[in-house]
Amino acid sequence: MMSDNFLRLGVNIDHVATIRNARGGAYPDPVLAAKVAQEAGADGITAHLREDRRHILDADIDGLMGALTIPLNFEMAATDEMQAIALRHKPHAVCIVPEKREERTTEGGLEVAREENKLAHFIAPLRDVGCRVSIFIAADRRQIEAAHRIGAEVIELHTGAYCDAHSEGRFDERDRELEALREMSSFAHSLGLEVHAGHGLTYETVQPIAALPEVLELNIGHFLIGESIFRGLTPAIAEMRRLMDEARK
Ligand code: PXP
Repeated sequence: MMSDNFLRLGVNIDHVATIRNARGGAYPDPVLAAKVAQEAGADGITAHLREDRRHILDADIDGLMGALTIPLNFEMAATDEMQAIALRHKPHAVCIVPEKREERTTEGGLEVAREENKLAHFIAPLRDVGCRVSIFIAADRRQIEAAHRIGAEVIELHTGAYCDAHSEGRFDERDRELEALREMSSFAHSLGLEVHAGHGLTYETVQPIAALPEVLELNIGHFLIGESIFRGLTPAIAEMRRLMDEARK
């Protein structure tokens, strides 16, 4: 039996698809990577179907839904097209993220507070078919309160600013970001929201986040796929798991 505060690792396989798409064709296959991650102890697989299909393709989502025994966390923008795809597949979880075509990656959290009504209507049918809806937001009290009001069950806190401050040596700022993540994970938990976190996490940055007791899931992709070039996907995941467990003790 898993303890109540077991920290799950969701492995994001988007960037296996990035490498595949650089040449077209079918190799390397993100569905196979997801199966390897599953064997390596991932607790879930995350895939972001972007509007421009720059990495994950519709066929990958079909393949993941058929191949996995662990939950799929389907990341998507709040658009009608994506909602229809999610309603067709009914993945275990749907994570709503902001998306701009010109950005390299998901740069900020969702502005839930400004679009409360629209988002409440958007997520209701997803919840009705049994998807656990998560909202990707910054560690900001207003956004958390709004996510709670619209009926989300889960929030995922954006760790990108914390990770960037660390990798660029801005340690005071990193520590402030970490403090905000600590306070806001506790605040969200007090509202009854399940708290996840992710974006930009590495072996160097994962432990302070893994140590936050209210955080129950980390979603990690780019670093793990990069690290798998040097040590292979299975050992790369095993080392992340070891660091998470060590921090959680
Ligand atoms: N969580 C969310 C909501 C994301 O959008 C992403 C990036 O797709 C991640 C986690 C994983 O971020 P990274 O690839 O930087 O580990």
